[in-house]
Amino acid sequence: MDIKKIMIIGAGQMGAGIAQVFAQAGYEIILNDIKEEFVEKGISGIEKGMKRRIEKGKMEESVMNKTLSLISPSTNYSDAQNADLVIEAATENESIKLDIFKQLDEFAPEHTILATNTSSLSITKIAAATNRPDKVAGFHFFNPVPVMNLIEVNLALQTSNETKEALEELGKSIDKTVIIANDTPGFVVNRLLIPMINEAIFILESGTVTAESIDKAMELGANHPMGPLSLADLIGLDTVLAIMETLYKGFKDQKYRPSLLLTKYVEAGKLGRKTGEGFFKYD
Ligand code: CAA
Repeated sequence: MDIKKIMIIGAGQMGAGIAQVFAQAGYEIILNDIKEEFVEKGISGIEKGMKRRIEKGKMEESVMNKTLSLISPSTNYSDAQNADLVIEAATENESIKLDIFKQLDEFAPEHTILATNTSSLSITKIAAATNRPDKVAGFHFFNPVPVMNLIEVNLALQTSNETKEALEELGKSIDKTVIIANDTPGFVVNRLLIPMINEAIFILESGTVTAESIDKAMELGANHPMGPLSLADLIGLDTVLAIMETLYKGFKDQKYRPSLLLTKYVEAGKLGRKTGEGFFKYD
């Protein structure tokens, strides 16, 4: 399948990152969000990140200009009529995603693949909300998208082999490594990673050790590039909680219960880097 034009739904940290890596590889991008200012914020974030690389001497200015010129803003789902692939990276909320997919299904041409960057929700259920379930799959990136080399292609019960192969090929075309996994809550990475972060929050809650020491322990004792609490702040505590709740609900197993302290941070609006404060503070 020939994929040239890609629409991305959601211009937050994941959506903007996905837009950047595809535009940098020469794909035409339609970057969509519900408000113009959200799209502008996403594009200016991409520009800021690329300017930092130019300053470090790691990127030519012409690469940035070409990349930005390939990204067109959108606030209308009807723009899916021009896309060969749509990647949805909206907020991690099932009813919002189901509604988006119903609308995309209406506007997108018959050949268009509708993919979701969901971190844990049921792709099978999302696929069933459309009239093209065979052309729906998970296409899951990791934060920060320009740095992290993995893509999980997650297959709904209905995903066709053709869709799987098209996404696998596309992921390779932007120099990422692709793994294929069937649709289960959290897929592979988040089923392992997020309970580890949740356990770190349980340890913090027990008051036996500081947040700094928990992170140091995993950086130096397990060679993780950053500690679990800093990583939670990077991912966003609302997303971490949403994934734990999906694991808990999906597997119906106590071992996935979210920590109360995590819930309290989310209720307080301390969501990590994106709000300036989570387990740590950010400028
Ligand atoms: N965008 C683009 N590039 C970035 C970046 C960003 N947001 N953040 C860092 N980088 C680049 C830097 O420019 C630098 O590049 P060069 O080496 O070419 O100069 C490189 O990454 C390393 O960055 P730093 O030196 O600033 O910092 P670091 O060495 O501490 O690395 C990190 C930062 C890459 C974030 C590293 O700490 C790391 O890998 N952390 C773990 C991240 C992780 O586990 N992500 C997965 C989260 S789970 C997820 O996303 C899935 C989900 O569904 C929730």
